[in-house]
Amino acid sequence: MIYKIKNICCIGAGYVGGPTMAVIADKCPHLNVEVVDLNEERIKKWNSKDLNKLPVYEPGLAEIIQKCRNTNLNFSSLVEEKIKNADMVFISVNTPTKKKGLGAGKASDLKWVEACARQVARFSEGHTIVVEKSTLPVRTAEVIKSILKTAERSQLSCKTFDILSNPEFLAEGTAINDLINPDRVLIGGEKQEAIDSLAAIYSEWVPKNKILETNIWSSELAKLTANAFLAQRISSINSISALCEATGADVREVARAIGSDNRIGSKFLDSGPGFGGSCFKKDILNLVYLSEYFGLPEVASFWEAVVNLNKWHQHRISKLIVKKLFGTVSGKKISILGFAFKSNTNDTRESAAITICKDLLEEGAILNICDPKVEAYQIEQDLGIKNNEKNKISLKEGEWSFHQNIYDATVGTDAVIVLTEWTEYRKINWKKVSKIMRNPAWVFDARSITNKKEIKKEGINFWRIGDGLS
Ligand code: NAD
Ligand code: UGA
Repeated sequence: MIYKIKNICCIGAGYVGGPTMAVIADKCPHLNVEVVDLNEERIKKWNSKDLNKLPVYEPGLAEIIQKCRNTNLNFSSLVEEKIKNADMVFISVNTPTKKKGLGAGKASDLKWVEACARQVARFSEGHTIVVEKSTLPVRTAEVIKSILKTAERSQLSCKTFDILSNPEFLAEGTAINDLINPDRVLIGGEKQEAIDSLAAIYSEWVPKNKILETNIWSSELAKLTANAFLAQRISSINSISALCEATGADVREVARAIGSDNRIGSKFLDSGPGFGGSCFKKDILNLVYLSEYFGLPEVASFWEAVVNLNKWHQHRISKLIVKKLFGTVSGKKISILGFAFKSNTNDTRESAAITICKDLLEEGAILNICDPKVEAYQIEQDLGIKNNEKNKISLKEGEWSFHQNIYDATVGTDAVIVLTEWTEYRKINWKKVSKIMRNPAWVFDARSITNKKEIKKEGINFWRIGDGLS
């Protein structure tokens, strides 16, 4: 038996809720999908006529929104009403690291998840399947369950619930493709009918052998573990990049050599400025907290090292830049190419660019920052310093300004630092740039996407990540 699902409500219209529900609505025209969020500003952007104003930039997303919005996909702040009508509620809210109190700095702050559980307990009617889509610490379902059970008991049983864990594995920048062609869909739960009801939705477009069923705790832990393994690969290759620079080896060659071993595999071996994004750091710290909580300090310190290496690596790059620029960047102009934590997204959360820019500004550098998708106000928030828009030409030490155009951003600068692998940065006209920069000019390519030969030919000094011979 499966439950008849007609109305879906997703609480949280963020980077996961928005794209995930858009794909479900597109693939399942028989379902009515309602995405709700307390943030009215965000909802307004999801409903914006101008698709360039959607709050999340993802290739392919705008087309689906255009097709499904106001047919079987709606965005609103009508939390109460949409929960009431829903047969299935996805919880897709933020779960950041706790800032204070017990577990501060490591444990996930579950206050938004708990608030959702309480909203569902209060407003739902009849039978509701509650799906954890947010990334959560192991055994969070227990918390949700106890809140919902109280509602079941106190309402003379007119409300009943099932709880499932269905973590999301999409990566930003490729979210739509990841959702349409997932490596797997994971469903953890206790009751087969509930699991089958959710599996029936995914099986509209995902092959059955890719829909994995586990117990609820394995599902929660598998999500944290997947992110920890991915982040660990990046810290591993970044640690080797430092060794390559010290020894004359080349991290790209090392990565190719080890990646050809199919037990290791070639993916996620690009050395860069350090991993960013809202999840890797937070999820590993959560794993560290859980390990400590369960009395496993060795396990905790093993995983904590992945985050520590990442932090060290980002500062290593800032220090190296200062060193190469004759030991001081005070009053020097530097172009920053890319502020998003990776290409094809407007997300800057935990971006390596934040750390590196802050380090350089603290050293007194003047930054001309470029990014094709990140807006200046976001950079202001991340750096905690206002964009000096009016006075672009006569900026003072420790100030920055935003530039749309790469070539405007390189006028009179001593160095160009590539921090995000945007396609347009692969095609820069270095001949043109060499004429407008101040000499001796430097390019620091933390993403290995520029052409070393071409840049050197123009008389520009060149450094790139993990290249012992650059
Ligand atoms: P986000 O911050 O972009 O969006 C969360 C949204 O939830 C916000 O708009 C917020 O206003 C809303 N919200 C919070 N509490 C609410 C409530 N009680 N009622 C209504 N709305 C509420 O977060 P995100 O990046 O979409 O991540 C959501 C979850 O998914 C996190 O647990 C994250 O770890 C996980 N995840 C994220 C990604 C990713 O690529 N960003 C990928 C996989 C999993
Ligand atoms: C990551 C995971 O890949 C997703 O499976 C997961 O669902 C998601 O986290 C999540 O839980 O939030 P995301 O952070 O969006 O996705 O992007 P990734 O492609 O994993 O990149 C993360 C960071 O690692 C970026 O800063 C990226 O530039 C960096 N990276 C990635 C490298 O430096 N080298 C690589 O080879 C790959």
